Amino acid sequence: MSNAHSKLNVSDFFALIKLIKPRYLYLVLGTVLGAIAVGLQLLVPMLAKDLLNHIPQGVNFHLLLMVGILFVFSIVLGALSGSFLGFFGEDVVYRLRERLWSKALSLSIPYLDNHQSGQIASRITNDSMQVKNLLADSLPRMATSLLQLVGALILMLLMDWKMTAIMFITIPLILLILLPIFRLSSAVARKRQDALATLNGNISEVLNNVRLVKSSTAAKVEQTNGSKHMRKLYQLGIKEAIYDSVIGPTTGVMMLALIVAVLAYGIYRISLGSMTTGTLMAFLMYMVQLIVPFTTLGQFVTEVAKASGATTKIQELLNVTEEDTNSGLNVNVANKSLTMDDVSFSYDTGPEVLHNVSFTANANEVVAFVGPSGSGKTTIFSLIERFYQPTSGGISLGDNNLNDVNLTHWRNQLGLVGQSANIMSGSIRYNLTYGLNKPATDEDLWQALELASAKEFVAAMPDQLDTYIGENGTNISGGQRQRLTIARAFVRDPKILMLDEATASLDPESEQMVQTALNKLMHKRTTLVIAHRINTIIDADKIYFIENGRISGSGNHSYLLKHHPLYRQYFENQIKKAIRLFRFLNNAIRFIINIIIIMKAQLSLDLFLFPRFYRYCMWNRPGNPISTKMVEYRF
Ligand SMILES: Nc1ncnc2c1ncn2[C@@H]1O[C@H](COP(=O)(O)OP(=O)(O)OP(=O)(O)O)[C@@H](O)[C@H]1O
Ligand SMILES: [Mg+2]
Repeated sequence: MSNAHSKLNVSDFFALIKLIKPRYLYLVLGTVLGAIAVGLQLLVPMLAKDLLNHIPQGVNFHLLLMVGILFVFSIVLGALSGSFLGFFGEDVVYRLRERLWSKALSLSIPYLDNHQSGQIASRITNDSMQVKNLLADSLPRMATSLLQLVGALILMLLMDWKMTAIMFITIPLILLILLPIFRLSSAVARKRQDALATLNGNISEVLNNVRLVKSSTAAKVEQTNGSKHMRKLYQLGIKEAIYDSVIGPTTGVMMLALIVAVLAYGIYRISLGSMTTGTLMAFLMYMVQLIVPFTTLGQFVTEVAKASGATTKIQELLNVTEEDTNSGLNVNVANKSLTMDDVSFSYDTGPEVLHNVSFTANANEVVAFVGPSGSGKTTIFSLIERFYQPTSGGISLGDNNLNDVNLTHWRNQLGLVGQSANIMSGSIRYNLTYGLNKPATDEDLWQALELASAKEFVAAMPDQLDTYIGENGTNISGGQRQRLTIARAFVRDPKILMLDEATASLDPESEQMVQTALNKLMHKRTTLVIAHRINTIIDADKIYFIENGRISGSGNHSYLLKHHPLYRQYFENQIKKAIRLFRFLNNAIRFIINIIIIMKAQLSLDLFLFPRFYRYCMWNRPGNPISTKMVEYRF
C-alpha cells in the first residue's frame, strides 16, 4: 500500500477485537451458514450442467427439483447468515462505542486540553463503524468469497482443467490492471475519514461557541473555515466517485471480455467435440457467480484501508493513559490538613506557571487565594482536583501523599464551584443531583436552593425542579447559573469546599445573600476560596497572595494589610468607594464640628462681650461724665 496508514496492522486489529469481546457465536454461525449457502450455490452449475446435457432426452424433473431446492436453501441460509453477521456487527459496534465512551470519560484533562472534542466524538461514532464494517461485513464476505473462488476452481478443474487454466490466468491479469485504482481509491477513503473527523471537530466547536460567533460577527469567517473543510471533502468525494466509477465498469468490461473469451473457446471446443454444451453453460454460471467474489475482493481493499485508519486512531485513543480511578486508599478527608509542598507546575510544554508554591489548609480552616488575573490561582485548584500532576513537589492529605488516595473517593469529598458555572442540559433536579452518590429529597433540594438564594427563581419556573435547562444553561441568566452551581455544592455537602470566584457574576444584593449562605456552608469544613472581592476573604484564617505563580505573602487580613504593599493596594482598590465615602463623611463631620466650634466660640465671645457692650452703650450715653474711658475699647 502507498502509505503506512492504509496498511492494516493485523495484530492491532485483532487486539482491538479481543478487547471488546464480541459475541463470536454470531460470527461463527453467520460465516458457517454463509459458507454452506455458497457451497449450495456452487452445486447449482454442476446440476444445471447435467440438466442441460439431458435436454435432448427430455427434461429431468428430478434434477430440476434438486436445483429448485438448492436455490431455496441457499436463499434461506444466505438470509440467516446475513442476519447473524448483522447481529454480530451491531454487537461489535455497540461494545466498541461503549468502550470508547468509557475511555473518553476517563481521559486525563491534559489530553483533553490538546485534542478537539469533535475528533474524539468521531472515534466513537464514525471510526467504530469502519471497524464493524470490516469485521462483520467485509471479512465474512471475504471468507465466503474465497470459499466460492476455491470451490469453483476445484469444481471447474474437475470439469475441464484447460478451460479453468485460461480463466484463472486471465483473472490475475485483470487484478493487476485494477490494483493501482484500488490503491488510489483506498488512499482517498482514508483521507476522507480524516477530513470528516476534522470537519466534525470544527462543527462541534463552532456550535458550542455559537454566541461568541454571533456576537463577534464571525459567521462569515466560520462559513469560510467550514467551507474549506467541506471543499476538501467534496474534492476527495469527487476523486472517490471517479475511482469507484472506473473500478465498476472496468471490472464489468473485463469480466465481459473474459466471458466472451471463455464462450468463444468453449464453442470452439464443442465444435471439436471435446466439451459438452452443459459444461460450457456450467462454466459460464461459475463465472457469473465469481463476479461477486471479485467485487468483494476489490471492496475489501478499500474497507481494509478505511478500517486500518480507524483502527489506528481507535488504538491511539485506547492506548492513552487514563486517570486511575480504581486504585488507591479510601481516606476520609474530615479533620485532615491539606498541604501543598514546594509545588512547581507547567502545562504541557508551556512555561512554568507555578513556582515553589507551599501552603497548608488545616482542617475546617478557610484559606483564601488572592492575586492578579493569570497568577495561577485556578491552576492551584486544578492540581488539588488532580486534573494535572505537579512537575515537582507534592500535595499531601494528612500523612498521605494525595496521589495515594483513590481518585474517585477523593473527588467525591470535594465540592468545586468553578469560575465558569457549568450546567448540563437537563432538569434543575438533574443538575442539582449531578454525580451525587447519596439520595436527595425534594426538600433537600429546595433547602439548598434557598441557601443559594435561588429558590425564588426556581419556584417561579413553570415546572420548578423539573424545569428543563438547555445546553450550558442557555435559558437561565449567568447569575442564576452560578446560584444553581452553588446550590449543587450545598446538596453535595462536601468535606472540602473549593470556591473559585463563586459569587463573581452576582449583583451586590444576591452576592450578600449567597455570601451569608456560603459562610454557613464553609462552617465545619475546610474551605479554599479564590476571590477578587475582599469581603469574601477578609475573615479567612489565612490568605495567600499569588503573584506570577509565586506566593508573595501570606497571613491574615490585618497582617497582610500591614506587611504586603500589593495586598494593601489590592485592598484599597477594592474599598475605594468605601474610602471615598468615609473621607466625605469625615470631612463633613469635621466641617460640622468646626462650625460648631466657631459658633461656640462666637457665642462665648458674645457672652463675654455682651456685658461690656451693654456697659459701653450705657456709659457712652451723651452726658455721661466717664464715657471717654470706654472709647478705646475694641471689639
Ligand atoms: N489549560 C491550560 N493550558 C495552558 N496554559 C494554561 C491553561 N490554563 C491556564 N493556563 C495558563 O496558566 C496561567 C495561570 O492561569 P490560572 O487560570 O491559574 O490563573 P488565575 O489566577 O486563576 O487567573 P484568573 O483570576 O483570571 O482566573 C496563565 O498564564 C494561563 O495562561
Ligand atoms: Mg482563575
